[in-house]
Amino acid sequence: MIQPTAAPFYLDCDTGIDDALALAYLLATPRAELVGIGTVSGNISAAGGARNTLDLLKLAGHPDIPVAIGAHDPQVGSFHGGAPHVHGDNGIGGVELAPSDREPVEATAAELLVQLAHKYAGALRVVAIGPLTNIAEALRLEPRLPDLIAEITIMGGAALAPGNITPVAEANIANDPEAAAEVLAAEWNVTLVPLDVTMTNVLEETHRQELLASEHPVSQALGEMLGYYFGFYVDIFGRACSAMHDPLAAAIAVRGVELTLAPTVRVEVDTTSGPSRGQTVCDLRGQYLGFPDQRGARCRVVLEIGEDFAPHLLGTMQAAWLSEEELTAPVA
Ligand code: RIB
Ligand code: CA
Repeated sequence: MIQPTAAPFYLDCDTGIDDALALAYLLATPRAELVGIGTVSGNISAAGGARNTLDLLKLAGHPDIPVAIGAHDPQVGSFHGGAPHVHGDNGIGGVELAPSDREPVEATAAELLVQLAHKYAGALRVVAIGPLTNIAEALRLEPRLPDLIAEITIMGGAALAPGNITPVAEANIANDPEAAAEVLAAEWNVTLVPLDVTMTNVLEETHRQELLASEHPVSQALGEMLGYYFGFYVDIFGRACSAMHDPLAAAIAVRGVELTLAPTVRVEVDTTSGPSRGQTVCDLRGQYLGFPDQRGARCRVVLEIGEDFAPHLLGTMQAAWLSEEELTAPVA
């Protein structure tokens, strides 16, 4: 049952270490009720991401949330095989979770999203933290989707920051630029959480040690996964730490963090075949005037948040799981 203060959320992901952090956060925050999850190929195949998601849900004690497998291939070309150098061969840093005996639902991710959009008409919020293939497919299945959902928050793109997969393109957008272009052109309330803000909010080794020291199995598993993820980021930041792309998008979607710079501007995705393919071209020319209203603008681009994100992320999980332990502790 949805808590009175919690909004219904659909998560679209490519689970993925930072996706796992986002999932754990959404399960922990009292501001969200996850009512469905779809997977898409990105960090790992859509089918592999669904397995990771089901296993994580089992570990977290949430066996009821439906998980649907989404698109294996992007709109143009085929799945590139994932990012084992970033997320490990199994997508979660080689960590072996107890396998869930649940199967994904029969519906595709796009179908599940459309079903939920009707069920929670006007209230459903979408968080998309993988390539946008499923979301674009859902828009084609149900053209009224923008009217049915309350808002969509997307981890993706780079506004002024460099890309992370090409000099200008971010992975989620670059993995399916045609889908991203379709989703960003649709008439709905979009919040884009680009590399500009996800690369400047990092998780340090001290935070990882906190997770490992926790009594909760999900925290421990996340701490182990992050050991692998930190290894990738050593070459980027010069120390063992990591960006927090997906959990930051999840926290912004639930209004868990304050946004200090997030102008609503026009955004287009480059779908040409040149060197800027997959770039999110954000019209930030209004910055000298404090970003006045822009005709045709509907994409809020988060450039800065007002606090250190890691304590909020860890604190949210600790608070949820501490109270869970208290509830299940035997009465003395
Ligand atoms: O560029 C970062 C994004 O790509 C994150 O969503 C990460 O999980 C990968 O999918
Ligand atoms: Ca992701």
